[in-house]
Amino acid sequence: MLIHTIEELRELRKSWNNLSVGLVPTMGALHEGHLSLIKKAKETCDKVVVSVFVNPIQFGPSEDFDKYPRTLEADMELCKSAGVDAVFAPAPSEMYGSGNRLSNDTLTYVCPPFFYVNKLCGKSRVGHFDGVCTVVLKLFNIVQPDFAFFGQKDAQQAIIIKKMVKDLNVPVKVVQCPIVREESGLALSSRNKYLSEDGKKDALALSKILNNIKACFNRGITDIDALKETAYSYLTDKHDLEYLEILDKNTLEEQEKAGSDSIALIACRVENVRLIDNTYLGEA
Ligand code: PAJ
Repeated sequence: MLIHTIEELRELRKSWNNLSVGLVPTMGALHEGHLSLIKKAKETCDKVVVSVFVNPIQFGPSEDFDKYPRTLEADMELCKSAGVDAVFAPAPSEMYGSGNRLSNDTLTYVCPPFFYVNKLCGKSRVGHFDGVCTVVLKLFNIVQPDFAFFGQKDAQQAIIIKKMVKDLNVPVKVVQCPIVREESGLALSSRNKYLSEDGKKDALALSKILNNIKACFNRGITDIDALKETAYSYLTDKHDLEYLEILDKNTLEEQEKAGSDSIALIACRVENVRLIDNTYLGEA
C-alpha cells in the first residue's frame, strides 16, 4: 500500500493498535541491502512500513540531491514482493511545508552531539547528521514504530541514531543489520549506479583495504598507523581518499591500539562518486 500523507499513515497506524510495527527508513532506489533490513523487520514485527524519502535537509548545497536516483515504481514492486505492509513516500512539502527555506532559521532541527559529528562523514558533510536525525525523528513520530532498522553500512549514522534515541528517550528499539555486498566485495549502495564498469572495479579498493586491515589485525598487528598504512598499496590516481580511520566501534572514540572492539571505516571518491564502507576488526 502506497501512502503519501502523514494523516493517512497515522490512520493506518491506529488500526494496528495491538500489533508490533517495524520501520525501515530509506531514500529509495532499493537494493538487496535495503531488502535485508526489510527481511529482518518482517521476521521481527507484525507490520512493516518502509519510508522512501529523499530528504532534502541532509544534502549539502553541492551534493547530489537533484540527481539522486528516484525509482518509486520499482521500489514499490520490491516492497510488494517482500511483503511490506505500507510504503510511506511523502513529498518534501508534506514533511517540511512549502515556502520553507529549510534552514534552522525556520525549522526545528535535531542536532546530534559535536563529538559524534565532528569526524568521519560529518567532517566533510557539515549539517548532514542534523538533517538525518531531524527526518528520522519525524519519521519515528509519524509512524511510531516499535522497532527501526538501520544498516551497518552507514555505521556513523547508526551510532548517532542510537545516541539520539537514548538521549531523547524515543520509545523505539534500533536494530542494526550487517552490510550486504556484491560477490566482488563491493558494498551495495544506491550511489553505485553512478559508477561506470571501470569505476566499479576501482571501487573494490575500499573493501580490499578493509579486508587487508582485518587480515593484518588477525595476524597480530594492533598499531593503528601501521594498519592504516597497509591501504596505500591499493590506492591509485583513480582514488581520492577522504578518510581511513580505526576507532571504537560503539563510541567512535580514538583508541591507543586496535582491538576486537575496533571498527575500520573508509570514505573514498571514485569517478567523483563518494563511497563509504567499514568493517569490524573483531569479526571473522
Ligand atoms: P539510504 O541510503 O537509502 O539507506 C537506508 C538504510 O539502508 C540505511 O540504514 C543504510 O545503512 C541501509 N543500507 C544501505 N546500503 C546497505 C548495505 N549494503 N547493506 C546493509 N544496509 C544497507 O541512510 C539513509 O538512506 C538515510 O540517511 C535515512 C536514514 C533514510 C534518512 O534519510
